[in-house]
Amino acid sequence: MAALWILTFMVLSAGVCSGQSSYCSYHGLLEHLKLATSDTTLEIMRPVKNWTTTTVVDLAMLLYGILGVDEKSQTVTGHILFTMAWTNEFLNWDSSDFCGINELSVPRSKLWIPNIVIQQDASDSSSLYEDPWVLLHPNGSMISFARQKLTFTCSFNLYKFPFDVQRCNITFVSMGADVNTLVLRSAEDNLTLMALSEQYMVTQGEWALRDMEYVHDLLSNGQRYHSALVYIVTLERKPFLYVVNFIIPLVYLLVLDLASFFISVDSGEKFGFKVTVLLSISVLLLILKDILPSTEVDLPIIANLCVAVFTLVWLSVLESMLVSFLFNLDQCCDKESKNCTEVKINKKKVTRGHKEPDEENEKVKPEQSFFPLGQLGDVDLLKLILDEVKAARQEAGSQRKSGCYRRVATIIDNFFFVGYLLTFVAFVIYICVGWIEF
Ligand SMILES: *[C@@H]1O[C@H](CO)[C@@H](O)[C@H](O)[C@H]1NC(C)=O
Ligand SMILES: *[C@@H]1O[C@H](CO)[C@@H](O)[C@H](O)[C@H]1NC(C)=O
Repeated sequence: MAALWILTFMVLSAGVCSGQSSYCSYHGLLEHLKLATSDTTLEIMRPVKNWTTTTVVDLAMLLYGILGVDEKSQTVTGHILFTMAWTNEFLNWDSSDFCGINELSVPRSKLWIPNIVIQQDASDSSSLYEDPWVLLHPNGSMISFARQKLTFTCSFNLYKFPFDVQRCNITFVSMGADVNTLVLRSAEDNLTLMALSEQYMVTQGEWALRDMEYVHDLLSNGQRYHSALVYIVTLERKPFLYVVNFIIPLVYLLVLDLASFFISVDSGEKFGFKVTVLLSISVLLLILKDILPSTEVDLPIIANLCVAVFTLVWLSVLESMLVSFLFNLDQCCDKESKNCTEVKINKKKVTRGHKEPDEENEKVKPEQSFFPLGQLGDVDLLKLILDEVKAARQEAGSQRKSGCYRRVATIIDNFFFVGYLLTFVAFVIYICVGWIEF
């Protein structure tokens, strides 16, 4: 009612200022259009003269901003403006009869408005703002405006996270009227749609609008078919923050773990270092858990990466445990065997002092025959050297025996390092291929 008063006031003032006939005023036009009466026919009936005529509604949606994307609840929040244009066959005038009036704003509540809803809409009702005025043209075409902070559901495919591209549908569908009564059409072609959204996009946040297109569709509701207009919005994530914050640290930690093979086992720091790396990776895993939903059937590549890195580091902790165990085992043996050899050497020294031929000297005898007989004076010296060499060899032999575990540990370590390195390289290739292929 207040709106009507305002209209009347505008009409009156326009009439006074121009000082022309009443046909130049909005009032006259309202009278002509029978909008000034309390007749409600225009409000309740679809404005067609023949009921079989289909009302065509031209829709245009403009995406103003992408405010947020929630991977957990699989929703996107955006800001949209949409206009609906249709023809009211009862409201037309010749603008030359009315001093060239070619536009009229009429309260929305006075007219029939197509009931169009968004299928994926998950926002609360307060987020919708409908312009209370509808724009009317002399040929009967009407335009209504609405803007909405739209939260719409979108089933994400996070397999390539954070290098993912999401295609979301925003489906406008006429709820009450079937396809024979009301048909939805896009007012703009795909190129214009994209250009407009790019031009007016205010905020995109983490996402970039890559493409926007529309498809005409029919939705079946039992036996009735409803006309639908599907806007397919393609969003691309800007992955930089995730790369800096997540992937690079993960790779660095893995490299650190790889480098820790060069820390000596004896220093005892290797083990602690590896466990620290393991803990750091579990912190990253916790962050990942906050980002990704647990609804994924296909584990995202990044989750594979995390699990693989975690497993690798875990294995390397186990391996370093084994190696340090073997080293310790070896050190025990070493102490015992050292004692043994010391005893042996002492014994030998004693025998050498007495210059008594022992078992070994007997064995050496055949070798002795190689020496020329004429140099018998040097034989003693040679014998002494030989003794020393034998003793040294024996000592080395006993040490080799006792260093057996150490050698096994070193072999295990080397093999593990090579295996680790190969797995790492293979995995990096796998990940890169997974992320790059589209
Ligand atoms: C009606 O007039 C408006 C404004 O002049 C124009 O944009 C629209 O295309 C016209 N509609 C038809 C169905 O001719
Ligand atoms: C989006 O709409 C298109 C066209 O109607 C359809 O083919 C596609 O399956 C829809 N996607 C989703 C996720 O509903």
